Amino acid sequence: MVNDAASFLDNPETHESLDITGFRDRIGDLPHQCLRAWEQGLKFSLPDDYRNVRNVVVTGMGGSAIGGELLGDLISKDGSPLVTVCRDYHLPPYLGSDSLVIASSYSGNTEETIAAFHDAIQRGAKVVAVTTGGQLLKLAHEEGVPVFQIDYVGEPRAALGYSFLVPLAILQNLRLIADSDEAVLEAAEVLLSLSHRLKPKIPTQDNPAKELAISLHGKLIVIYGGGMLSGVARRWKTQFNENAKTWAFVELLPEAGHNAIAGLQWPKPIGKKACGVLLNTWSLHPRIKLRYQMIEELLGKAGVECRTVDGVGKSTLAQMLSSVLFGDYTSYYLALLNGEDPSPVSPLDYLKSRLKDLQ
Ligand code: PA5
Repeated sequence: MVNDAASFLDNPETHESLDITGFRDRIGDLPHQCLRAWEQGLKFSLPDDYRNVRNVVVTGMGGSAIGGELLGDLISKDGSPLVTVCRDYHLPPYLGSDSLVIASSYSGNTEETIAAFHDAIQRGAKVVAVTTGGQLLKLAHEEGVPVFQIDYVGEPRAALGYSFLVPLAILQNLRLIADSDEAVLEAAEVLLSLSHRLKPKIPTQDNPAKELAISLHGKLIVIYGGGMLSGVARRWKTQFNENAKTWAFVELLPEAGHNAIAGLQWPKPIGKKACGVLLNTWSLHPRIKLRYQMIEELLGKAGVECRTVDGVGKSTLAQMLSSVLFGDYTSYYLALLNGEDPSPVSPLDYLKSRLKDLQ
Protein backbone atom coordinates (compact mmCIF):
# COMPACT_ATOMS: atom_id res chain seq x y z
CA MET A 1 0.00 0.00 0.00
CA VAL A 2 2.80 2.43 1.01
CA ASN A 3 4.77 1.34 -2.05
CA ASP A 4 1.73 1.88 -4.24
CA ALA A 5 1.29 5.35 -2.77
CA ALA A 6 4.96 6.12 -3.33
CA SER A 7 4.90 5.07 -6.97
CA PHE A 8 1.65 7.01 -7.43
CA LEU A 9 3.31 10.19 -6.09
CA ASP A 10 6.53 9.54 -8.04
CA ASN A 11 4.68 9.21 -11.34
CA PRO A 12 4.70 12.53 -13.30
CA GLU A 13 1.38 11.53 -14.85
CA THR A 14 -0.29 11.79 -11.40
CA HIS A 15 0.73 15.43 -11.11
CA GLU A 16 -0.28 16.35 -14.63
CA SER A 17 -3.67 14.70 -14.45
CA LEU A 18 -4.74 15.92 -10.99
CA ASP A 19 -2.92 19.23 -10.64
CA ILE A 20 -4.25 20.74 -13.83
CA THR A 21 -3.33 24.35 -13.05
CA GLY A 22 0.24 23.69 -11.88
CA PHE A 23 -0.28 24.39 -8.18
CA ARG A 24 2.99 22.51 -7.57
CA ASP A 25 4.91 25.19 -9.44
CA ARG A 26 3.35 27.91 -7.35
CA ILE A 27 4.50 26.11 -4.20
CA GLY A 28 8.00 25.69 -5.65
CA ASP A 29 8.08 29.38 -6.55
CA LEU A 30 7.64 30.53 -2.93
CA PRO A 31 11.35 31.42 -2.46
CA HIS A 32 11.30 33.67 -5.54
CA GLN A 33 7.91 35.09 -4.68
CA CYS A 34 9.22 36.05 -1.23
CA LEU A 35 12.12 37.91 -2.79
CA ARG A 36 9.86 39.69 -5.30
CA ALA A 37 7.38 40.68 -2.60
CA TRP A 38 10.17 41.93 -0.35
CA GLU A 39 11.82 44.03 -3.07
CA GLN A 40 8.49 45.50 -4.19
CA GLY A 41 7.46 46.11 -0.58
CA LEU A 42 10.66 48.02 0.19
CA LYS A 43 9.91 50.37 -2.72
CA PHE A 44 6.41 51.10 -1.44
CA SER A 45 6.37 54.38 0.43
CA LEU A 46 3.76 55.73 2.83
CA PRO A 47 3.08 59.21 4.20
CA ASP A 48 5.46 60.26 7.01
CA ASP A 49 2.71 60.50 9.62
CA TYR A 50 2.13 56.73 9.23
CA ARG A 51 5.23 56.37 11.43
CA ASN A 52 3.38 57.71 14.47
CA VAL A 53 1.54 54.55 15.41
CA ARG A 54 1.47 52.48 18.57
CA ASN A 55 -0.16 49.35 17.27
CA VAL A 56 -0.77 47.53 13.99
CA VAL A 57 -3.79 45.49 12.96
CA VAL A 58 -3.74 43.31 9.88
CA THR A 59 -7.31 42.70 8.83
CA GLY A 60 -8.12 39.89 6.43
CA MET A 61 -9.49 36.39 6.14
CA GLY A 62 -8.06 32.96 5.29
CA GLY A 63 -5.10 33.04 2.94
CA SER A 64 -4.91 36.83 3.21
CA ALA A 65 -4.90 36.83 7.03
CA ILE A 66 -2.25 34.23 7.68
CA GLY A 67 0.58 36.56 6.61
CA GLY A 68 -0.47 38.98 9.36
CA GLU A 69 -0.44 36.19 11.91
CA LEU A 70 3.05 35.11 10.84
CA LEU A 71 4.13 38.76 11.06
CA GLY A 72 2.85 39.00 14.64
CA ASP A 73 4.73 35.82 15.60
CA LEU A 74 7.91 37.00 13.86
CA ILE A 75 8.26 40.37 15.51
CA SER A 76 6.69 39.64 18.86
CA LYS A 77 10.03 39.69 20.64
CA ASP A 78 12.04 42.70 19.62
CA GLY A 79 10.33 45.74 21.15
CA SER A 80 8.24 46.30 18.02
CA PRO A 81 4.67 47.61 18.04
CA LEU A 82 1.93 45.17 18.91
CA VAL A 83 0.71 43.41 15.75
CA THR A 84 -2.64 41.65 15.90
CA VAL A 85 -4.81 40.04 13.28
CA CYS A 86 -8.49 40.82 12.89
CA ARG A 87 -10.52 38.12 11.16
CA ASP A 88 -13.86 39.82 11.63
CA TYR A 89 -16.19 42.62 10.53
CA HIS A 90 -15.16 44.95 13.37
CA LEU A 91 -11.72 46.01 14.50
CA PRO A 92 -10.66 45.71 18.16
CA PRO A 93 -11.94 48.42 20.56
CA TYR A 94 -8.51 49.95 21.27
CA LEU A 95 -8.08 50.93 17.62
CA GLY A 96 -7.81 54.66 16.85
CA SER A 97 -5.79 57.36 15.14
CA ASP A 98 -2.54 55.94 16.55
CA SER A 99 -3.18 52.59 14.82
CA LEU A 100 -1.98 51.33 11.48
CA VAL A 101 -4.51 49.07 9.75
CA ILE A 102 -3.30 46.88 6.90
CA ALA A 103 -6.37 45.67 4.98
CA SER A 104 -5.23 42.50 3.25
CA SER A 105 -7.43 40.83 0.66
CA TYR A 106 -6.09 39.05 -2.39
CA SER A 107 -9.33 39.43 -4.35
CA GLY A 108 -10.30 42.72 -2.74
CA ASN A 109 -13.86 41.43 -2.46
CA THR A 110 -13.97 39.76 0.95
CA GLU A 111 -16.90 41.19 2.87
CA GLU A 112 -15.39 40.95 6.36
CA THR A 113 -12.25 42.79 5.18
CA ILE A 114 -14.30 45.48 3.42
CA ALA A 115 -16.37 46.02 6.58
CA ALA A 116 -13.22 46.27 8.72
CA PHE A 117 -11.75 48.70 6.18
CA HIS A 118 -14.79 50.99 6.60
CA ASP A 119 -14.48 50.64 10.38
CA ALA A 120 -10.79 51.68 10.23
CA ILE A 121 -11.61 54.75 8.12
CA GLN A 122 -14.41 55.78 10.47
CA ARG A 123 -12.14 55.51 13.48
CA GLY A 124 -9.44 57.67 11.89
CA ALA A 125 -6.79 54.96 11.73
CA LYS A 126 -3.90 55.11 9.26
CA VAL A 127 -4.94 52.62 6.62
CA VAL A 128 -3.14 50.84 3.82
CA ALA A 129 -4.59 48.22 1.46
CA VAL A 130 -2.76 45.17 0.10
CA THR A 131 -4.75 43.63 -2.74
CA THR A 132 -4.86 42.69 -6.41
CA GLY A 133 -7.92 44.89 -7.02
CA GLY A 134 -11.67 44.39 -6.56
CA GLN A 135 -13.81 46.51 -4.30
CA LEU A 136 -11.00 47.19 -1.86
CA LEU A 137 -8.90 48.86 -4.55
CA LYS A 138 -11.86 51.00 -5.58
CA LEU A 139 -12.70 52.02 -2.00
CA ALA A 140 -9.06 52.76 -1.19
CA HIS A 141 -8.87 55.09 -4.20
CA GLU A 142 -12.08 56.82 -3.13
CA GLU A 143 -10.77 57.30 0.42
CA GLY A 144 -7.27 58.34 -0.65
CA VAL A 145 -5.79 55.28 1.06
CA PRO A 146 -2.40 54.04 -0.24
CA VAL A 147 -2.57 50.68 -2.02
CA PHE A 148 0.09 48.05 -2.53
CA GLN A 149 -1.21 46.29 -5.61
CA ILE A 150 -0.24 42.62 -5.79
CA ASP A 151 0.69 41.59 -9.33
CA TYR A 152 0.80 37.87 -8.58
CA VAL A 153 -1.67 35.50 -10.21
CA GLY A 154 -2.68 32.41 -8.23
CA GLU A 155 -4.79 31.31 -5.30
CA PRO A 156 -4.94 33.77 -2.36
CA ARG A 157 -3.18 31.22 -0.15
CA ALA A 158 -0.43 30.80 -2.74
CA ALA A 159 0.35 34.53 -2.45
CA LEU A 160 1.78 34.12 1.06
CA GLY A 161 5.04 35.83 0.10
CA TYR A 162 2.98 38.97 -0.51
CA SER A 163 0.60 38.71 2.44
CA PHE A 164 3.52 38.16 4.83
CA LEU A 165 6.53 40.03 3.49
CA VAL A 166 4.79 43.15 2.15
CA PRO A 167 3.43 44.04 5.62
CA LEU A 168 6.89 43.25 7.02
CA ALA A 169 8.48 45.62 4.47
CA ILE A 170 5.85 48.27 5.29
CA LEU A 171 6.80 48.14 8.99
CA GLN A 172 10.48 48.28 8.10
CA ASN A 173 9.93 51.27 5.77
CA LEU A 174 8.13 53.05 8.59
CA ARG A 175 11.07 52.22 10.89
CA LEU A 176 8.74 50.51 13.31
CA ILE A 177 10.91 47.37 13.37
CA ALA A 178 14.57 46.43 12.92
CA ASP A 179 15.99 45.71 9.46
CA SER A 180 14.99 42.26 8.15
CA ASP A 181 17.03 42.23 4.91
CA GLU A 182 19.52 39.62 6.03
CA ALA A 183 16.80 37.34 7.40
CA VAL A 184 14.79 37.58 4.15
CA LEU A 185 17.83 36.66 2.05
CA GLU A 186 18.69 33.76 4.32
CA ALA A 187 15.07 32.57 4.32
CA ALA A 188 14.95 32.65 0.51
CA GLU A 189 18.12 30.53 0.30
CA VAL A 190 16.82 28.05 2.86
CA LEU A 191 13.50 27.82 0.98
CA LEU A 192 15.22 27.26 -2.31
CA SER A 193 17.32 24.39 -1.06
CA LEU A 194 14.31 22.88 0.76
CA SER A 195 12.13 23.08 -2.34
CA HIS A 196 14.84 21.15 -4.24
CA ARG A 197 14.50 18.38 -1.63
CA LEU A 198 10.70 18.32 -1.54
CA LYS A 199 9.62 18.93 -5.14
CA PRO A 200 7.61 16.34 -7.10
CA LYS A 201 10.60 15.04 -9.07
CA ILE A 202 12.33 13.82 -5.90
CA PRO A 203 11.28 10.21 -5.25
CA THR A 204 9.43 9.33 -2.07
CA GLN A 205 12.36 7.52 -0.48
CA ASP A 206 14.33 10.81 -0.50
CA ASN A 207 11.38 13.17 -0.11
CA PRO A 208 10.19 13.67 3.49
CA ALA A 209 7.10 15.67 2.44
CA LYS A 210 5.85 12.77 0.29
CA GLU A 211 6.62 10.35 3.14
CA LEU A 212 4.70 12.47 5.61
CA ALA A 213 1.73 12.80 3.23
CA ILE A 214 1.62 9.01 2.87
CA SER A 215 1.58 8.54 6.63
CA LEU A 216 -1.21 11.12 6.97
CA HIS A 217 -3.38 9.63 4.25
CA GLY A 218 -6.76 8.57 5.66
CA LYS A 219 -5.99 10.19 9.02
CA LEU A 220 -7.58 12.94 11.05
CA ILE A 221 -4.74 15.42 11.30
CA VAL A 222 -3.87 17.46 14.38
CA ILE A 223 -1.08 20.02 14.05
CA TYR A 224 0.72 21.10 17.22
CA GLY A 225 2.64 24.38 17.16
CA GLY A 226 3.87 26.90 19.66
CA GLY A 227 5.69 30.22 20.02
CA MET A 228 6.95 31.49 16.67
CA LEU A 229 5.37 28.43 15.01
CA SER A 230 1.82 29.12 16.19
CA GLY A 231 0.71 30.89 12.99
CA VAL A 232 2.71 28.36 10.99
CA ALA A 233 0.68 25.57 12.63
CA ARG A 234 -2.52 27.30 11.54
CA ARG A 235 -1.10 27.60 8.02
CA TRP A 236 -0.49 23.81 7.99
CA LYS A 237 -4.06 23.15 9.14
CA THR A 238 -5.62 25.46 6.56
CA GLN A 239 -3.44 24.12 3.74
CA PHE A 240 -4.60 20.59 4.57
CA ASN A 241 -8.21 21.81 4.53
CA GLU A 242 -8.01 23.80 1.30
CA ASN A 243 -5.47 21.84 -0.74
CA ALA A 244 -6.04 18.26 0.41
CA LYS A 245 -9.76 18.79 1.20
CA THR A 246 -9.28 16.95 4.47
CA TRP A 247 -10.11 17.25 8.16
CA ALA A 248 -7.30 18.96 10.06
CA PHE A 249 -7.15 20.81 13.36
CA VAL A 250 -4.61 22.86 15.21
CA GLU A 251 -3.53 22.82 18.85
CA LEU A 252 -1.27 25.55 20.21
CA LEU A 253 1.36 25.16 22.89
CA PRO A 254 1.76 25.82 25.73
CA GLU A 255 -2.06 26.07 25.97
CA ALA A 256 -2.62 22.50 24.70
CA GLY A 257 -0.81 21.25 27.80
CA HIS A 258 -3.65 22.67 29.88
CA ASN A 259 -6.58 20.99 28.16
CA ALA A 260 -6.16 19.21 24.79
CA ILE A 261 -3.93 16.49 26.22
CA ALA A 262 -6.75 15.45 28.55
CA GLY A 263 -8.95 14.70 25.57
CA LEU A 264 -7.00 11.97 23.80
CA GLN A 265 -8.95 9.01 25.11
CA TRP A 266 -12.37 9.09 23.48
CA PRO A 267 -13.89 8.14 21.10
CA LYS A 268 -11.34 5.30 20.74
CA PRO A 269 -11.89 4.82 16.98
CA ILE A 270 -10.96 8.50 16.40
CA GLY A 271 -7.64 8.12 18.24
CA LYS A 272 -6.78 5.16 16.00
CA LYS A 273 -7.52 7.26 12.93
CA ALA A 274 -5.69 10.40 14.15
CA CYS A 275 -2.14 11.49 13.55
CA GLY A 276 -0.43 14.36 15.36
CA VAL A 277 2.17 16.49 13.61
CA LEU A 278 4.49 18.36 15.95
CA LEU A 279 6.08 21.46 14.44
CA ASN A 280 9.41 21.94 16.15
CA THR A 281 12.48 24.06 15.59
CA TRP A 282 15.78 24.58 17.37
CA SER A 283 15.12 28.07 18.70
CA LEU A 284 11.73 27.55 20.33
CA HIS A 285 11.44 28.38 24.02
CA PRO A 286 13.09 25.45 25.90
CA ARG A 287 9.97 24.91 28.01
CA ILE A 288 7.85 24.61 24.86
CA LYS A 289 10.34 22.10 23.47
CA LEU A 290 9.99 20.05 26.65
CA ARG A 291 6.24 20.13 26.21
CA TYR A 292 6.63 18.71 22.71
CA GLN A 293 8.49 15.71 24.14
CA MET A 294 5.76 15.17 26.70
CA ILE A 295 2.96 15.52 24.19
CA GLU A 296 4.67 12.95 21.99
CA GLU A 297 4.82 10.62 24.99
CA LEU A 298 1.14 11.18 25.82
CA LEU A 299 0.03 10.67 22.23
CA GLY A 300 2.03 7.43 22.17
CA LYS A 301 0.39 6.23 25.42
CA ALA A 302 -3.05 7.01 23.96
CA GLY A 303 -2.14 4.96 20.87
CA VAL A 304 -2.18 8.03 18.60
CA GLU A 305 0.47 8.15 15.88
CA CYS A 306 2.63 11.21 15.69
CA ARG A 307 5.34 12.76 13.55
CA THR A 308 7.71 15.68 14.06
CA VAL A 309 8.81 18.23 11.47
CA ASP A 310 11.73 20.56 12.22
CA GLY A 311 12.08 24.07 10.83
CA VAL A 312 15.52 24.90 9.44
CA GLY A 313 17.70 27.99 9.17
CA LYS A 314 19.36 30.51 11.45
CA SER A 315 16.84 33.32 11.55
CA THR A 316 13.34 33.08 12.99
CA LEU A 317 12.01 33.98 9.54
CA ALA A 318 13.84 31.09 7.85
CA GLN A 319 12.64 28.63 10.48
CA MET A 320 9.06 29.81 10.06
CA LEU A 321 9.04 29.83 6.27
CA SER A 322 10.84 26.50 5.94
CA SER A 323 8.15 24.91 8.08
CA VAL A 324 5.46 26.61 5.96
CA LEU A 325 6.99 25.24 2.75
CA PHE A 326 7.20 21.72 4.20
CA GLY A 327 3.52 21.92 5.10
CA ASP A 328 2.54 23.32 1.71
CA TYR A 329 4.25 20.44 -0.11
CA THR A 330 2.83 17.85 2.29
CA SER A 331 -0.71 19.15 1.78
CA TYR A 332 -0.16 19.10 -1.98
CA TYR A 333 0.94 15.44 -1.95
CA LEU A 334 -1.96 14.55 0.33
CA ALA A 335 -4.35 16.22 -2.13
CA LEU A 336 -3.09 13.89 -4.86
CA LEU A 337 -3.38 10.83 -2.61
CA ASN A 338 -6.99 11.89 -1.97
CA GLY A 339 -7.54 12.11 -5.73
CA GLU A 340 -8.12 15.86 -5.48
CA ASP A 341 -7.02 18.84 -7.52
CA PRO A 342 -5.29 21.03 -4.89
CA SER A 343 -6.32 24.34 -6.47
CA PRO A 344 -10.12 24.81 -6.40
CA VAL A 345 -11.98 25.42 -3.16
CA SER A 346 -15.57 25.12 -4.33
CA PRO A 347 -17.18 25.10 -0.84
CA LEU A 348 -15.60 28.54 -0.22
CA ASP A 349 -16.92 29.81 -3.56
CA TYR A 350 -20.35 28.35 -2.76
CA LEU A 351 -20.50 30.04 0.65
CA LYS A 352 -19.36 33.40 -0.74
CA SER A 353 -21.91 33.33 -3.55
CA ARG A 354 -24.76 32.26 -1.21
CA LEU A 355 -23.90 35.13 1.15
CA LYS A 356 -23.81 37.56 -1.76
CA ASP A 357 -27.28 36.45 -2.85
CA LEU A 358 -28.52 37.14 0.68
CA GLN A 359 -27.34 40.76 0.81
O1 PA5 B 1 -7.33 30.58 0.39
C1 PA5 B 1 -8.39 31.10 0.08
O2 PA5 B 1 -8.82 31.11 -1.09
C2 PA5 B 1 -9.24 31.77 1.13
O3 PA5 B 1 -8.81 31.43 2.41
C3 PA5 B 1 -9.23 33.29 0.92
O4 PA5 B 1 -7.95 33.82 1.17
C4 PA5 B 1 -10.28 33.95 1.80
O5 PA5 B 1 -11.55 33.46 1.49
C5 PA5 B 1 -10.28 35.47 1.68
O6 PA5 B 1 -10.29 35.86 0.34
P1 PA5 B 1 -9.27 36.99 -0.13
O7 PA5 B 1 -7.92 36.44 0.15
O8 PA5 B 1 -9.53 37.17 -1.59
O9 PA5 B 1 -9.58 38.18 0.69
